[in-house]
Amino acid sequence: MPLVSAKVLLEHAQANGYAVPAFNCHDLVDFQAIIAAAETEGAPVIIMASESTIDFAGFSYIEGLAYAGAKEAKIPFALHLDHGRDLDNVVKSVQHGFTSVMFDGSNLSFEENIRLTAWVADIAHRVGMSVEGELGQIPGTEDDITVSEQEAGMTDPDLVADFVERTGVDALAVAIGTAHGLYKGEPKLDFPRLTAIRKATSVPLVLHGGTGVPDDTVRRAIELGICKLNVGTELRVAYTSSVSRALVDREFRDPRPLLSIARTAIAGVVQDKIRLCGASGRAKAISW
Ligand code: 13P
Repeated sequence: MPLVSAKVLLEHAQANGYAVPAFNCHDLVDFQAIIAAAETEGAPVIIMASESTIDFAGFSYIEGLAYAGAKEAKIPFALHLDHGRDLDNVVKSVQHGFTSVMFDGSNLSFEENIRLTAWVADIAHRVGMSVEGELGQIPGTEDDITVSEQEAGMTDPDLVADFVERTGVDALAVAIGTAHGLYKGEPKLDFPRLTAIRKATSVPLVLHGGTGVPDDTVRRAIELGICKLNVGTELRVAYTSSVSRALVDREFRDPRPLLSIARTAIAGVVQDKIRLCGASGRAKAISW
């Protein structure tokens, strides 16, 4: 069964100095594009559904896609709830066979973030799911969650060890200068902060807001301890712009050729990110 806990993938990445690329998916088209590109590259991947994707598609359809994919896929992948803020959704992700969950308590006080993340970790670990927590707040818009520059705060390295120990998370999302969505200028990452966070904990670190971060910056972040790179907007843009361009070129009376164009465009972006993360060819070394 290639549907595995994200912890298995992240630990392999951490031990071997690469990152597992994690992609936001919305429907069959991008789900198949991600799996196809990962198979071409022989790479492990994490497929993520955010709460607004759940609102759009429903837990059962996302679960159905993942378990259908697991019958066919030749690479290991994890199914992850991205930025879970509603505890009801977190519990449903457990019930619907997700293999990884992020509880995003970054808008809460430090103590409340710890209390709820620990609660999520307790129930998720009982069924072998891995858990990602977030400390510090990442600016920008991820689906329905908008964090302004004023609200955003970088991860404080001095709080990391306490957070990880008291919550029991398997991975930690860090705020070090990336943002969700499209950047206005070039993002500047705080590498000294990342180094200090890395020293404070041994759990795999997660970089959100992967869209538009220059390749060299991503590579440096991976060298300094990032083990999971989240990419969403770039796939959505590949999807919508390829469809828009195709519709300008000609009239379609059948959605399948149109959606095949989108699937190819998305797979191209996924393949580039897999290579950037150094994840190509890694699937064969992971036991699943
Ligand atoms: P981008 O949409 O900026 O790529 O961020 C994705 C993300 O971090 C999902 O959690």
